[in-house]
Amino acid sequence: MINLNSIIFNGMDITKIDVQVQLSAGFAKPEFNIIGLADRAVKESAERIRNALSALNLSLPSKKLTVNLSPADIEKTGSHFDLPILCGILCAMEILPADELSKYIIVGEIGLDGAIVNTGGVLPASVWANKNGFGIICPGVQGAEARWAGHTNILAPNHVLELINHFRGTQILPLPQMAQITEQHEKIGDLAEVHGQAAAKRALEIAAAGGHAMLMVGPPGAGKTMLASRLPTIMPEMTPNEILETSIIYSIAGKLGDKSLISNRPFRAIHHTASAVSLAGGGADARPGEISLAHNGVLFLDELPEFNRATLEILRQPMESGKIIISRAKRNATYPAHFQLIAAMNPCPCGHLGNAALSCSRAPRCAEAYQNKISGPLLDRIDLHVDVDAVNPWDMNKKSDTPTETSAQIRERVILARERQISRQGYVNALLDGGDLDKYVVLNDELTNFLNTAAQNMGLSARGYNRIKRIARTIADLANRDEIIMSDLAEALSYRPINRGKYGVRG
Ligand SMILES: Nc1ncnc2c1ncn2[C@@H]1O[C@H](COP(=O)(O)OP(=O)(O)O)[C@@H](O)[C@H]1O
Ligand SMILES: [Mg+2]
Repeated sequence: MINLNSIIFNGMDITKIDVQVQLSAGFAKPEFNIIGLADRAVKESAERIRNALSALNLSLPSKKLTVNLSPADIEKTGSHFDLPILCGILCAMEILPADELSKYIIVGEIGLDGAIVNTGGVLPASVWANKNGFGIICPGVQGAEARWAGHTNILAPNHVLELINHFRGTQILPLPQMAQITEQHEKIGDLAEVHGQAAAKRALEIAAAGGHAMLMVGPPGAGKTMLASRLPTIMPEMTPNEILETSIIYSIAGKLGDKSLISNRPFRAIHHTASAVSLAGGGADARPGEISLAHNGVLFLDELPEFNRATLEILRQPMESGKIIISRAKRNATYPAHFQLIAAMNPCPCGHLGNAALSCSRAPRCAEAYQNKISGPLLDRIDLHVDVDAVNPWDMNKKSDTPTETSAQIRERVILARERQISRQGYVNALLDGGDLDKYVVLNDELTNFLNTAAQNMGLSARGYNRIKRIARTIADLANRDEIIMSDLAEALSYRPINRGKYGVRG
C-alpha cells in the first residue's frame, strides 16, 4: 500500500492527512473509489485524475483502486487532494518513487490536462511542513508563496509531467524564487491630499495610535471615505510576524496574489449589503470572512445604518477577543480577527441634517429613525465619535505651498505612542479595561472631579466613562507624557457619541 501525506485545515489549525492508495488484483474493469469522509469536491477528484492520466497517455490499471483519506473521522473538503491522490496512483503504478514522495506534504489541484493549478493554503501548509520535517510539493505558481515559510525543500511543478521528469532525473525542478516584499507596495493616498478637516485628521491619529474604533458622522462628500482609506498609511508598518499571520489567512482564503505576501496593512471596505457569512466567514469549507481578512488592518463600514443589524452584531465578539469562532456541523473553526473598525455615516438618509439650505422637510425625525438603526452595544464599543463637517471651500483652494502634514510625519508620532503603550501594558489602549484601566489611567483628584461632573451632565454610561479615560490615555501618549492632564481629558470629552454630537438628535 502507498502512503503519502497531505493536510487539512480547520480554521488556522492543520491536521496531517494520510493519502493511502491500494491497488488490488482480480478485477477486470478499472474501478476507482475515494473513501474516508470525502466531500463532493474531493469525490470529483476522481474525474479530474482520470482525465489527467489520459492526458499523460496513461490509463488506470485493470485493478481495483482504493484511495483512503485517513483519519476517517475528519471531513475532507477542498480540491487540494487531487495532486496527492494522483501522486499516490503514480506511485502504485511505479511511475513515481513512493519512498521519496512520502517525505513531502503534497497539495494541489489538477486541471483536466494534467496541469497543476493553484489552491488555497499553500503558505500555512509550507510553514507546517517545515516545522514537522517534511518537504512540500505545491503548484508551480505558488512556489514563491511556499518559499515565504522559510522552507527550502520545495518542489513546485506546473504540470504532473514536470514532477515525473524530476524524479526520473531528466528535468530537475529549481528551488522557487522568493519575491521581494517591497516590490508590491501599491499606491495608497496620503493624508496630505485631504484638504482641511484638521479635527478629523487629529481623531484619525488618535485612533491609529491607540487602536481605537472610530465612527465618523457628516454630510456626503465631506471626505469620510477618503480619510478612512488613508488610516493604514499612518499606522505602524506591519512586523514580519504580522505579515506572515495576515498572509496565512489570505492564503487559506485563496486570495494571496501570485508572488507576494500581504505587506501593506489590509484595508477592507465592506458594502452594507454584505452577508453575515461574508463578514464572519463560514460556508462549506469554513473560509475566513472579511473580518479575518482585515486582521492586523482596518475594517471599514461605510453607511453604517444601512447594514443589517444582525450582521453588525457579529462584530461584537471579535472586537473584544480579536478572533472569530465559526460554528460548523462537527467542529468549530477559529480565525484571528484583530482589526481596527472605522465606520462612517451620514447623519440622516439625505445626509444634510443641520444644513438649512439642503436638509429635507422630514428633518429631524428621519434622522432620529436613521440613527436609531445602529445598535447601542455596538456604539458602546466605538471609542471615538467624530463629526466631519463639509469641507470649507477656503481649505479646498489652499495654495500648494501651504505645508500640510504627510502621513509619514503623523506616523512617526503614532509609532512613538504605540511603543509607549506596548512597553507599559503590553497592548494598545483600545483594549484597556477592568483593573488595567484603573492601573494605567491615573487621574488626580482635580481631573476625577472634572470627569465626574462632565459624566453627570452628559449622562455618560459606565462604558462611556471608560471610553473617555482610554482616549485621554492615548492623547497623553501621543504627547509622549506619562501624566494625564486637563487638556487631554477635555479633548477626550469632545469626541461625543453621535446622539450627543453636532448631528445628534437624541441628546
Ligand atoms: N477634504 C477633502 N479634501 C480633498 N478632496 C475632498 C475632500 N473631501 C472630499 N473630497 C473629494 O470628494 C470626493 C468624495 O469624498 P468622500 O471621501 O467619498 O466623501 P464622503 O465619504 O464623506 O461622502 C473625494 O473623492 C474627493 O475627491
Ligand atoms: Mg463616503
